Parts: sequence; structure tokens; C-alpha cells
Amino acid sequence: MGFQALFPTLVYTDRLRARGWRSLNARLLRECRQLQEDDAAGRRWSARNYPGGYTSYGSANRMHRNSPTFAALARELDRHVGRFARRLRFDLEGRALAMTDCWVNLMGAGTAHGLHLHPLSTISGTYYVATPAGSPGLKLEDPRLERFMAAPPRTDAGEGDRAWVTLPARPGQVVLFESWLRHEVPAHRARAERVSISFNYSWF
Ligand code: NI
Repeated sequence: MGFQALFPTLVYTDRLRARGWRSLNARLLRECRQLQEDDAAGRRWSARNYPGGYTSYGSANRMHRNSPTFAALARELDRHVGRFARRLRFDLEGRALAMTDCWVNLMGAGTAHGLHLHPLSTISGTYYVATPAGSPGLKLEDPRLERFMAAPPRTDAGEGDRAWVTLPARPGQVVLFESWLRHEVPAHRARAERVSISFNYSWF
């Protein structure tokens, strides 16, 4: 008899690609800033829902269809999502696991994104474009937390045993997780903007 770790929650992180990511990032950054300038509806949406920052979540959320630069990013992400899906043992027979949403997030000083999940999607994730010093990471929550009714606190909990784990945000880095996993981005602490691109993949 021994210990078994059952029902693990898998999270995927990797560099988008070994080479050439800086030039892709520079193009993405320009387009993110241009979008913020052009997207009046998105700025209005963000003023209500994303104080201090700009997100195209409520206005331009199919960026992989609107821009060749974002389409190039999506092709790279497809490979990472394919790898993650194989490790998750997904049987994708007969249907494609495809990108359905892709939007940009520019966080100013004090901007935060509270706990949430991505309903109706299969795999979600973020690609980091610019993360100046003071940029928060991605805080993930143990999906069993709401069932911990009489669980004592844990001593010396390693990363895999904590109730929350924060993954650092680094430019050129991809993070993928199953869309049911709750996560948040704590408040941004720098004047320079933290810029990321978030996306959903769905299997229906
Ligand atoms: Ni999210």
C-alpha cells in the first residue's frame, strides 16, 4: 500500500517558441495598443467592467479572425493545446478542439481581474506579451476548495498541496488550463501596462 495522487489538475506552461517570439511579441504589442485606440465600444465596456485597464473581451473577441498577426499566434497555440489535450487523454474523435475566442487585456496600475472560470469552453489560457516588474501572475484555485468543510490547515504545503498557486507571468510564455479551473489576476502594481492575450478552445 502506498499513496496515490488521484484526479490531478493539470496545468500547462511553456514558451510559445524557442526563437522568434520577440518579433512576434513586438507586432502583437503594437496591435494591442492600436486596438485599444480604435475600439471605442471596448473602452466603454472596460470602463464599467475592467477599471483602470482595457480589454477587448466584450467587443473584439475573435482577434484570431481579424488579424494575421493574431492568426499566426493562434497557429502556434494550436500546437501547445494539442499537446495539452493529448496529456489530458482527451478523445477528440470526430470533432476539432478549436479556438473560439481570443481577446487582449491591457492592465494599468490597480487593474485586477477577480475569480472566475470560463464556462462553455474546454481549454482556456493566456499568452503574455508584456509583463513589467510588478505584474501579477495568474492565481489558480484548488477546484476542491468548496468541499473542504472540516479540513484542517496544512503545514509546509508544497506547491501541489496549496489551495492557491500563482504562476508568474513572463513574456513569451503560454499558460493553459481546463476551462473549469477558477483563476484570478490580482491587482497590477506597475505604471507600465501588463499586456496579455487570453483565449478559449472549445470542442463543440
Ligand atoms: Ni480567465
